[in-house]
Amino acid sequence: MLKQGIWKQSRISTEIKGMSVQVPKQGSDKNARKQSVPANQNKQGPGKKAVPLKTTEDKTGQSGSRRSRHVPEQIKPSEASLAKKLGQLAVSEQRPMDSRRGSTPTGRTVSQAKTTPSSNPPRGHSPLTSLRDIAGLIQQKCCKNIIVVAGAGISTASGIPDFRTPGTGLYANLQKYNIPYPEAIFDIDYFTCNPKAFFSLAMELYPGNYQPNYIHHFVRMLHEKGLLLRMYTQNIDGLERMAGIPAEKLVEAHGTFSTASCHLCYTSFPPKEAETIIMSGKIPRCKICQGIVKPDIVFFGEDLPKSFFLHSKDFPKADLLIVMGTSLQIEPFASIVNSVRPIAARLLLNRDLVGPFKRIPLKSTDVVKLGDLVDSVKKFAHILGWQEEINELIKQHDNPVETVTEVSPTVVKGEVKQRGPRGGNVKILNSPGRRRSTKAPQKTNAADTDSSSGDSNVSESETDSTASSEHSN
Ligand code: OAD
Repeated sequence: MLKQGIWKQSRISTEIKGMSVQVPKQGSDKNARKQSVPANQNKQGPGKKAVPLKTTEDKTGQSGSRRSRHVPEQIKPSEASLAKKLGQLAVSEQRPMDSRRGSTPTGRTVSQAKTTPSSNPPRGHSPLTSLRDIAGLIQQKCCKNIIVVAGAGISTASGIPDFRTPGTGLYANLQKYNIPYPEAIFDIDYFTCNPKAFFSLAMELYPGNYQPNYIHHFVRMLHEKGLLLRMYTQNIDGLERMAGIPAEKLVEAHGTFSTASCHLCYTSFPPKEAETIIMSGKIPRCKICQGIVKPDIVFFGEDLPKSFFLHSKDFPKADLLIVMGTSLQIEPFASIVNSVRPIAARLLLNRDLVGPFKRIPLKSTDVVKLGDLVDSVKKFAHILGWQEEINELIKQHDNPVETVTEVSPTVVKGEVKQRGPRGGNVKILNSPGRRRSTKAPQKTNAADTDSSSGDSNVSESETDSTASSEHSN
């Protein structure tokens, strides 16, 4: 797996119930060691070329530092309609607020306004306030390049816990692994000395036990409509792939279980073999250096996959960013949401306010819809009029199309072939959902295909004012 850049955690929860939490402090041995790495070096295995910590170049030639100083592009003629629709908001965040945003005194910047509570929140006057506004942009073809940024919250409806929700999150339920602090389970330094904890957890985490839910299928629908520029996910559950979002539209920024490699020399290891060994309770070893082999999921202290750096090309092109199911607490992933152009609309679908959406007032181009993600996404699909098509996608996923083929009855890589009813060969499309289903069928699919549930309470006047007012207050 190609490694590039560095994944640094920005924050560690200190309130994980029932766990003895020891947060690595600035200046602790571990951090001191990490910080003492020369600026032009990074964690690399033997034979790997060192890459700079913060100035890693991607294949586009953009550097991380350049990325953080991203300068918005000029508005092109093709973007004029979006700019017009957004009330010609192509201005810096630090601009003085205009009359549309409320009674901000002349010369006061948005960030200054944020620190001074206003008794008259300007949120209601902003050009974009609701799911309906965002849906309108899509319907009017003002948004043709949509980026989705996702986290563990999109998979909770599939039965997979997220990481940080108090009580139910993974990090609140790792007591049995006897680790010093929850995130140690994904810390490369801890793993090097104590790999067993991760491998025990990996037996539960391996994809195959869970099914994609309505949210994954919604993103697939964005792709089917030709609107998905890219999905950036932090999830390692593989549900995006299972939902049929093609590899080229997907950046699995925190890695994947679908490949494996030695954590010392990065030599690839057959993923199926790694899975078999891990599922039998053993630890796979590198055939070259005898180092421990792990699935290519990105641990704290490891580099993100090269594909992550596509964001420096993608985000300036986006006209809509949909952020969903993430606490935006882990860098560098969290910061990419700030690299869209100022005129691009951003929609947060989540239970909590996170990242830049905590800002009061919200940016004029930002919309927040708080609440359960499946409910919100169903409402969004309802407004867009996509329910039937999404339900059809879900049906296809649950009952993959069977096609009669003429080829001989052999097993072809990536496909399972069985004898067909007339002696022909039936090709069962490679639906990962069929891989293993040792656990009870997950919620979602049957319920999610019921378009009447959850959508029927969407009225014409639905404006997400709840979310807005929750935020404003
Ligand atoms: P978190 O657990 O930090 O955040 C999940 C977010 O989703 C929270 O804001 C929840 O409130 C929200 N959420 C959960 N279920 C929801 C639901 N049904 N409806 C609406 N919102 C819901 O997960 P991530 O942000 O993905 O690293 O965490 C980032 C990274 O931290 C992960 O990639 C992981 C972890 O260390 C690795 O896997 C190696």
